[in-house]
Amino acid sequence: MSASKPVAVVTGASSGIGAVYAERLAARGYDLVLVARRAERLQALSAKLAQAHGTQVETVAADLTSEAGLVRVEHVLATNPDVSLLVNNAGNGKLGATVAMSAADAAATIALNVTAPTRLTRAALPPFLARNAGAIINVSSVMALHSLPITSLYSGTKAFVLAFSRGIQEELGGTGVRLQVVLPAGVATEFYDQAGIPLSAFDPAVVMTAEDMVDAALTAFDRGEAVTLPSVHDLALWDRYDAARAALFGATQNGKPAPRYLTKQGLAA
Ligand SMILES: NC(=O)c1ccc[n+]([C@@H]2O[C@H](COP(=O)([O-])OP(=O)(O)OC[C@H]3O[C@@H](n4cnc5c(N)ncnc54)[C@H](OP(=O)(O)O)[C@@H]3O)[C@@H](O)[C@H]2O)c1
Repeated sequence: MSASKPVAVVTGASSGIGAVYAERLAARGYDLVLVARRAERLQALSAKLAQAHGTQVETVAADLTSEAGLVRVEHVLATNPDVSLLVNNAGNGKLGATVAMSAADAAATIALNVTAPTRLTRAALPPFLARNAGAIINVSSVMALHSLPITSLYSGTKAFVLAFSRGIQEELGGTGVRLQVVLPAGVATEFYDQAGIPLSAFDPAVVMTAEDMVDAALTAFDRGEAVTLPSVHDLALWDRYDAARAALFGATQNGKPAPRYLTKQGLAA
């Protein structure tokens, strides 16, 4: 790796959103560590980026649902002092009723969408904080804000990414380290090949290209945005949602049960 160029670690870089992040970050002058299971895809992307941008790429063919895979990426984050950006992008989810999902599929989705970004965020933060510099981009989903009968588990995992990310943003206050959480809506990728619902089932008008999604998210990153909803045109909708959430939380801070739950007996007591 060149000591003069910053390094970005991108998980799930073998296709879709992660591959576009890799390309855009290479164009911005980053060297890269690209992580996914399909080594041949990573090598092909690596050759393309070396040719187009002179990027030095380390490929890590790792299954992020395995302890061994996580340890390999954690090691990179802990030991390469040029790493200044982590993109926790790898994720998947079989869509369908919870009772119809195999235990193995459910466990793999939780491992990839929850455990992996948690482990890698925890591995990246100590060196970033020691240098008081660095950034993490966590790819959540609009399904963090919405559950459908076919998305219960997926929505739960992405809600975790959102809540975890927002808490870490608070932890990072006053430091030079920052975290952006990105909530894409439908994006045209291979995600739907494994999800069990084809992309063709969606109205094309509600599906974004991965290129548009990443370009919008990186524009927001450049502006220091903490929570990015690339497909939402009216940002006041998020501001109102978040203000209502904060007001609701404030209202929970009350040691007395709400009057509507007081029984006659309780009222008499
Ligand atoms: N597409 C959408 O509509 C949409 C919307 C909102 C959020 N998202 C989120 O965007 C992120 C990227 O998804 P995408 O749409 O770009 O889908 P994708 O094209 O299927 O990409 C998923 C990436 O994750 C990697 N991955 C999957 N399982 C892995 C494992 N066990 N270990 C390591 N890497 C693994 C895949 O590589 P290998 O198979 O080579 O391992 C691939 O590079 C995900 O977090 C997804 O939840 C997608």
